[in-house]
Amino acid sequence: MQVYSLRMRFATKALRVGQELDPQYRSVIPPLYQSATFGWEDLDHIPKFDYTRCGNPNRHMLEEVIASLENGKHCVLFASGMAAIVASLSLLQHGDHVLIASDIYGGTFRVGEKLLPRQGIQVGEFDAHRPCSITEAVQPNTKIVLFETPTNPNLKVSDIAAVVKVAKEHGLIVIFDNTFASPALQNPLDLGCDIVVHSTTKYISGHSDVIGGAIITNDDEIHTAIYDWNKAVGAVPSPFDCWLTLRGVKTLGCRMKTHCTNAQAVAEFLADHPRVKHVHYPGLATHPDHAVARKQMTAFGGMLAFDVDGTTAQARKVCESTGVFLLAESLGGVESLIAYPPLMSHATMTEEQRVAKGIPPTLLRLSIGVEDVEDLIEDLDTALKLGFA
Ligand SMILES: Cc1ncc(COP(=O)(O)O)c(C=O)c1O
Repeated sequence: MQVYSLRMRFATKALRVGQELDPQYRSVIPPLYQSATFGWEDLDHIPKFDYTRCGNPNRHMLEEVIASLENGKHCVLFASGMAAIVASLSLLQHGDHVLIASDIYGGTFRVGEKLLPRQGIQVGEFDAHRPCSITEAVQPNTKIVLFETPTNPNLKVSDIAAVVKVAKEHGLIVIFDNTFASPALQNPLDLGCDIVVHSTTKYISGHSDVIGGAIITNDDEIHTAIYDWNKAVGAVPSPFDCWLTLRGVKTLGCRMKTHCTNAQAVAEFLADHPRVKHVHYPGLATHPDHAVARKQMTAFGGMLAFDVDGTTAQARKVCESTGVFLLAESLGGVESLIAYPPLMSHATMTEEQRVAKGIPPTLLRLSIGVEDVEDLIEDLDTALKLGFA
């Protein structure tokens, strides 16, 4: 029975869209089509899937559900979030100019600094907090703006609709990285963005066991260009990675609720801690962007960062002293992680560049998982004591 309906709500869509019962045995969970190629009946009938670089049933199911969760028409999946970001920038040609937000994930910064200029593409910066900075930086050859919010690692929140408004006054394509919030908390296509990219490695798959990426759009022409690019390049996820990600996405709605309530409690605990100088979490009423976050997000997310009120050595020791929080890169999984941006997500930047972007060497980033929040708080309390011992 076809249950697909636009009226379904988020958690139901995550469980049902694109996921019909297996036609052969009616298995509730889709089989894994771990096959590079598919047989043709004859030359008059081209099969729906013929070769896995071009398409695969497991990939197709996941594309349908992710498109629907972002309120989008199309989705193309990639082997990583970075492959998706680079694919979205493949809309640029030699001689074009792109504006990338100054506060952006380190890997995206690396693409703007190292990869695009080699292809004859000019790269400029803008401040997504000040949408008028697009007008200040735009050139006759500017084609795209790319930004994200909340930002990594200092959780600034910019007004998505306001950035889109200025970008559209200049006829620019707007690409938005929605990895940090996930489609459970905000849907940037609804706010006028042209392209949403995700690292599905993070909240969408949610279990730190797969690397993947996605591009979602409502624009047929953009979709065709992105699909053709991926078919040509072959930056596709494996069927098993899609199967795992589909299993993860089913619980995105309920996982995000726990990530958010846990993060709020941890942020409030840290905000009152004598060894903490500053907590960056948009759910705190004292956060400068709290009102914007409240306007465009359904909750404030599972990511936060805090500045240790001490030396770099003390901050590093705090980072190395947790037990429940694992010292590791990445985010968005069910387990809590603590990260040190200068050696992890923002290692590409020089110390000078990091400080200019508000990433001092005492800043620690947390990805809050779904453990019992009392354990998370006790763990941080102990680590803060050990860090200053
Ligand atoms: C906001 C953001 N976008 C993109 C990426 C890249 O994703 P991936 O590691 O899946 O390539 C990351 C990775 O941490 C990220 O944090």
